[in-house]
Amino acid sequence: MARRAGKLQLSRYQNPGEVKEKAPKDFVTEVDLLCEELMVDAIRGRYPDDAILSEERGGSVAERGRTWLLDPVDGTANYMKANPLFCACVSIIEDGTVTHAAVVAPRLGDMYHARAGGGAYRETGGRETPLRVSDTKRLEYAVAGADLSLHGGKPQDPGVERVLFGAWQLRALGSAAIRGAWLAAGYLDASVGTYNTAWDYAPTVLLVSEAGGRATDLSGEPWSLSSEGLIATNATLHEEVLETLHSA
Ligand code: IPD
Ligand code: CA
Ligand code: CA
Repeated sequence: MARRAGKLQLSRYQNPGEVKEKAPKDFVTEVDLLCEELMVDAIRGRYPDDAILSEERGGSVAERGRTWLLDPVDGTANYMKANPLFCACVSIIEDGTVTHAAVVAPRLGDMYHARAGGGAYRETGGRETPLRVSDTKRLEYAVAGADLSLHGGKPQDPGVERVLFGAWQLRALGSAAIRGAWLAAGYLDASVGTYNTAWDYAPTVLLVSEAGGRATDLSGEPWSLSSEGLIATNATLHEEVLETLHSA
């Protein structure tokens, strides 16, 4: 289903249709809505009783049993500009644990997927490769990822700033899910998320843990649906990142 949404995104690449500013500087395109419809219909057709929480339509999380978390287009701002870093994200969360995740980045030709206890993989051109996080040992040699909201020039959270400026290099990709997938793949060593939501974070939590990394909330506790942020690293850097974040 994520794959089909990816195909739809690709078929409408450079043609996102009507664009609306649903909140200040937060956009939704016709393609976001079409991908969401496709995904919701696919789930309803096969699992009519499952709960769905989706970015554009909302929904709810089941107290018990499966909930599907959908981000029909992650990286809408990129998609609107025909930047190739966009994807479709589907995750399943059950009793608070992310059990399945898929991130399809069609313009890159990559699908990232993971199952709890089953490993994390990238599929490219029909070839599947297991994902493994990097072995970078110190923040000063790390490539960190984050997408900062600039708030019209207002200062950033000092802790986040310390982590990002304490790293060797910084990447702002414009897609939280690709950031997580690239961390799982070892392209990034640490990722800081402070403004995203459950459908953005859930795929990172599973992909990174299954690739040997660590993903927690900002205080180092296990990530949950009510967590405000997400720190994901290659595991080796985790304590250093948390210490840097909180060392006032
Ligand atoms: C956004 C992207 C972006 C992040 C924003 C998200 P969207 O998701 O993941 O990288 O900085 O916080 O909202 O709106 O394109 O699905
Ligand atoms: Ca998103
Ligand atoms: Ca989205």
